[in-house]
Amino acid sequence: MSWVSIDYDKCNGCGTCLEVCRRCFFLEDETVVVHADDNCCSLCGHCVSICSPGAIEHHKMDMNNFIDTSKDEFITTDDFFEFLRQRRSHRHFKKQSIPKKDMDKLIDIVRYSPTGSNSQNVAVVVIQDAARIEKLSNLSVDFMAAGGEQSAKKLQELKAEGKGTPGELSMMEMMARYGEMMKQSREMGDDPVFYQAPAVIVFHSSKEGMGQKDNCMIASTTMGLLARTMGLEFTYIGIFEAAANASPPVMEELKLPEGHGVYSVIIVGYPKLKFLRTVDRKPTAVRWE
Ligand SMILES: Cc1cc2nc3c(=O)[nH]c(=O)nc-3n(C[C@H](O)[C@H](O)[C@H](O)COP(=O)(O)O)c2cc1C
Repeated sequence: MSWVSIDYDKCNGCGTCLEVCRRCFFLEDETVVVHADDNCCSLCGHCVSICSPGAIEHHKMDMNNFIDTSKDEFITTDDFFEFLRQRRSHRHFKKQSIPKKDMDKLIDIVRYSPTGSNSQNVAVVVIQDAARIEKLSNLSVDFMAAGGEQSAKKLQELKAEGKGTPGELSMMEMMARYGEMMKQSREMGDDPVFYQAPAVIVFHSSKEGMGQKDNCMIASTTMGLLARTMGLEFTYIGIFEAAANASPPVMEELKLPEGHGVYSVIIVGYPKLKFLRTVDRKPTAVRWE
């Protein structure tokens, strides 16, 4: 039984389906036919989406979720460029929670972000409880501080013995400094991991398979940019991703499904500060061919 069928009463024979999917669609006696199953179909839905007479049905997908996109309203390039350029990593948030309907919308966009081979393997944990966020932050700081102390000790040993490459030594110096900074920041009552944001979103996926990092980064970026249209701002929290994947206590506290890893983390909230100017960046290194 094919996952996809063509209603020949509606089909106008344009062959566009054949153009978008040469894996499941083919010509038989000048007629387009389809046989879709797990050998060829990645559930991308392009065949249904492209068919102008609406003759194609995908029996493994929710046909009510194929919404008409034919109206020609679009954001201008300049507006979108400025929207992207004005994004900043925010680390100061109002103590204001995000309404559930907005959170739902942010979560909903994850499913529409692209994934390699349409694997759709991105899952999220949404953490909004301040005590949970603080606990995860504290466990991460503990981990970074312990790592920093170890690095500082090792650095002293290597220096005394005249060993270690410049790269190794500078990495250890950075780890030692970072661990110390985190500890000091916490002692001052700050949250150096999540900046007391009202929401932490952890993007995770099974370690088996491919493309998890790319998929989760794309999903978190898409979500973060969408958040900006709601008056929210976001920041990637790579430090927590690193802590979660390397520290068993942090991972245990996260309670992810067995065999899952963390591949992107963002914080989201209403900004306390407003950036008034764009910032300068190095020109992109580009080679035209
Ligand atoms: C992959 C990635 C991981 C990051 N991790 C952190 C983090 O753990 N903590 C933090 O405060 N900022 C983090 N950032 C934010 C960067 O510091 C920030 O993007 C950079 O300084 C440029 O500033 P801008 O985002 O305002 O342009 C991360 C950014 C990226 C892209």
